[in-house]
Amino acid sequence: MKLPYAEPYKIKVVEKLYRSTQKERTQWLKDANYNLFNLKSEQVFIDCLTDSGTGAMSDQQWAEMMIGDESYAGSRSFEKLKKTVKRITGYKYFLPTHQGRAAENVLFSALVKEGDIVPGNSHFDTTKGHIEFRKAHAVDCTIDEAFDTSIYHPFKGNVDLNKLEKVFKENPKEKIPFTILTITCNSAGGQPVSMENTKAVSELCKKYHIPLYFDSARFAENAYFIKKREKGYENKSIKEIALEIFQLGDGMTMSAKKDGLVNMGGFIALNDEKVYKEATVFNIMFEGFITYGGMNGRDMGALAIGLDEATEFDYLESRIEQVAYLGQRLADFGVPVQQPFGGHAIFLDANKFVPTIPKEEFRAWSLAMELYIVGGIRGVEIGTILADRDPETRENRFPELEFVRLAIPRRTYTNHHMDYIAVALKNIFNTREEARHGYRIIDEAPIMRHFTVKMEKI
Ligand code: F0G
Repeated sequence: MKLPYAEPYKIKVVEKLYRSTQKERTQWLKDANYNLFNLKSEQVFIDCLTDSGTGAMSDQQWAEMMIGDESYAGSRSFEKLKKTVKRITGYKYFLPTHQGRAAENVLFSALVKEGDIVPGNSHFDTTKGHIEFRKAHAVDCTIDEAFDTSIYHPFKGNVDLNKLEKVFKENPKEKIPFTILTITCNSAGGQPVSMENTKAVSELCKKYHIPLYFDSARFAENAYFIKKREKGYENKSIKEIALEIFQLGDGMTMSAKKDGLVNMGGFIALNDEKVYKEATVFNIMFEGFITYGGMNGRDMGALAIGLDEATEFDYLESRIEQVAYLGQRLADFGVPVQQPFGGHAIFLDANKFVPTIPKEEFRAWSLAMELYIVGGIRGVEIGTILADRDPETRENRFPELEFVRLAIPRRTYTNHHMDYIAVALKNIFNTREEARHGYRIIDEAPIMRHFTVKMEKI
């Protein structure tokens, strides 16, 4: 019999969780105006709000924290991180930033101008935000299969080359500062991009003389999927695959809070000296001197170790198989989930789960509330509330897909926690036909309303 995967680490430190009662949670949720962002973390039993900055560091990382060099300029920890980034990405130049969106802010300040067009595969919210903030446009060129939860495709993060070429053909080259490829594609459900597609995108970009950058927050998870699903990569190491991906582009932005295995941090790495020099000015202005860029020395040291640990096969196998374990348990119970399972999260399909709740009463939001009340589990709505109102008509925008995302923090929970989540959802699923009503909005911000919206139960 083939031996199953198991975590390639053991637990040295634990953090206590409070097991609240349903009665307590019902009151807390009311006090939080039915918005999970307003809960105190002690009121949450299993927190699946995000996999960003919520993972556990290793003893090696904590040891590195103790020898962090906090010098303003020329820190040893910076040199250590720079060397690791060079080895893992192959890029010549490197700038630390305090997190992923800061890397976007710095790089885009150097590259994006008003009226520009930045094509990519379902840009993440902050990426799109930093493009639109500069009065430029993000054009989504993801393959159509990504938007149909009933279709199986091993690489739903892939770019549709015809859509991309159309953007290149219809716009002057000067208006397209770069293409951005998000690996894995968070907005498409943590879905990977294949090496074949990355190569094709790279060639197309070269043909039209457009640089290619990667949004690399979950690049190691993407490399794992290539190794598992793409012919010719079975015997390559994760580090070899990652290097091969990066060599197809000109640079990257990184939220180190994901595949850097740290709680805070980010960076830019790239080959073009001119862009590096321009970005350096913005880094100093927004982030800090170029040898710390918003990070502590100790955090840069921990990140150097984290990047190596996150690109080890055994770690990635246990990480991604844990997410798939939860997905499979849910699928076995008949709970509607997006397939194939993403690398960092499971997405519950609320339209199929609670079709009895009118869509005007926010199905995914309602399901997220119920999951908290039943199990003390915090997910996040990726649906109508997140989609905001139409800026012109001020009507609610109803996206085709209404999801509750359950993001799994790295090295943090055990499979018993996954079982607990699965059973809580099964119990809700068994009584789903009784769900007739959802929620109404009583107060909301004009934009990005999901963080602060106040709701009321109907
Ligand atoms: N790019 C991707 C693909 C992301 O998923 C995120 C963050 C960022 C960029 C921005 O990085 O948070 O370090 O500034 N995603 C988090 C999430 C917030 O919950 O998915 P950041």
